[in-house]
Amino acid sequence: MLKNVASLSPEEKKTFGKSLNELRADVELEMAAKEKEIRETELQHAENRFIDMTIPAKSQGRVQHPIKIVQSQLIDVVARMGFDVHRTPNIATEYENFDALNIPSWHPARDMQDTFWLKDGRVMATHTSCLQNELLKTKTPPFRAVYFGPCFRNEKIDATHDILFEQMEFMVVGDNINIGHLKHTILTMLKELFGYEPKIRMRPGYFPFVEPGIEVDLWWEKDGKGRWLEFMGCGLIHPNVLREGGLNPEKYSGFAGGFGLTRLAMIRYGINDIRLFHENKIEFLEQFTVG
Ligand code: DAH
Repeated sequence: MLKNVASLSPEEKKTFGKSLNELRADVELEMAAKEKEIRETELQHAENRFIDMTIPAKSQGRVQHPIKIVQSQLIDVVARMGFDVHRTPNIATEYENFDALNIPSWHPARDMQDTFWLKDGRVMATHTSCLQNELLKTKTPPFRAVYFGPCFRNEKIDATHDILFEQMEFMVVGDNINIGHLKHTILTMLKELFGYEPKIRMRPGYFPFVEPGIEVDLWWEKDGKGRWLEFMGCGLIHPNVLREGGLNPEKYSGFAGGFGLTRLAMIRYGINDIRLFHENKIEFLEQFTVG
């Protein structure tokens, strides 16, 4: 009706327009009154509702993802061991992911990880180590930190490789930290996680951000047959990495180590195809749900 006012004669506009405006004011008043009434009855209902605080909360969701199960068990373990828990970013700068970790652009170690580059020069985090520099810069030694997060690599996808997987890394910085501390930490974590102390083997391995660098193999027995599985990279933090994090390597030392949570979940649950983790099939996920 208001739209039509424009086509009326000036005389009609006056009278018709006036009554139209009055009508609108009336309707608005009625609506406001009705709204108030509705709100008040709702409030009254809410006040009358009896809330029993002793009823257990409804759980959110029915199934748990195996990687998240392993992750929360690990958080339980490391929190008891005095580690702070952090999350790593999906996207990292080239500096955080490489340069700060003693991997300059000319270094052949850059090719160890097939990287997804963003147009602006940043990268999809290739490892959780990309948080090391920030932690070194923001924490005051002595400190213990673990950090979890997704890692992206431009891999050809098959049963054991995916472009996305989860890692956990741990880092300890303080005075006179040595390989004995590192080994003890790894064994304690695994013992708490598995419920027994597994057999591990430490052998030299190359990672630019540690010196010496170590590969840890885990003895895994299944159906009476045992074998060594490559499990973790670790070592004493390279002096260049400490320096880049603003710490004097003459004064501080530390260790770091990282492993694939995805791989750990595969070993633990006997999952033989990494692609299952991202298929989001309820039948797969249900098998790990307890209770
Ligand atoms: N960032 C390495 C990777 O993704 C794993 C690793 C090796 C982490 C040695 C460490 C370490 O902290 O000391 O392959």
